Amino acid sequence: MSHRNASKTPGKRKGVLITFEGVEGSGKTTQMNMLHAHLIRMKVDVVATHEPGGTRLGEEIRRILLDPAFREMHPLTETVLYAADRAQHVYEVIKPALEAGKVVLCDRYLDSSLAYQGVARRVGLEGVRNLNEWVTDDLYPDLTFLLEIPYRVGLKRLEKRKETLDRMEAQPESFHEQVQEAYRTLAKFFPYRYVVLNGADKPENIHHRVMEEVMKLIG
Ligand code: TYD
Repeated sequence: MSHRNASKTPGKRKGVLITFEGVEGSGKTTQMNMLHAHLIRMKVDVVATHEPGGTRLGEEIRRILLDPAFREMHPLTETVLYAADRAQHVYEVIKPALEAGKVVLCDRYLDSSLAYQGVARRVGLEGVRNLNEWVTDDLYPDLTFLLEIPYRVGLKRLEKRKETLDRMEAQPESFHEQVQEAYRTLAKFFPYRYVVLNGADKPENIHHRVMEEVMKLIG
């Protein structure tokens, strides 16, 4: 994978895209919400969104993707559905916001597909990368926070929080272990945009680090 400009039409892109990634229960949603609230207090023009979902159509795709009843879903079907959700999200929400100069925060983005489908589902990084570069028009994040936590700790957090697990959460431990390893590899592959944070640290401390990095980008 090479360092590509985030957009084929760089002239049109004025905002910044910040993504949050990690294994299940890593605390990335909490951190994104804290950052969102902080930026609003600072009067920054910010949009917070998530994948899968984030659009009316995407929420329907999300329902299919996470429904534990679809045990028969083929890894390629899964990969293409996540990419379909992303295409809608990019063109309906993310790109217009970036072109309007906004700061866009996204809870999971294409790195989730590289880690979950590319590596853990064994679809292959190359194919998943090509598909996702195509559907996003090469839109890579400017900054990606990886909340690192041992996958077992994350799964324990989930068990406390939720009564039933969705189709992805209910995958065997070995699957989540591979997702964790894949994220480590991605962080090494994209050092210019990845910031790895200790998800076991206090939320306020993590938030402090997040703000430091975000201010370097937008301050
Ligand atoms: P999400 O609702 O963000 O769950 P979490 O609270 O764990 O972040 O994501 C739903 C699941 O979808 C999650 O298990 C990760 C998985 N996923 C993929 O496998 N590929 C993808 O491209 C994305 C965006 C998510």
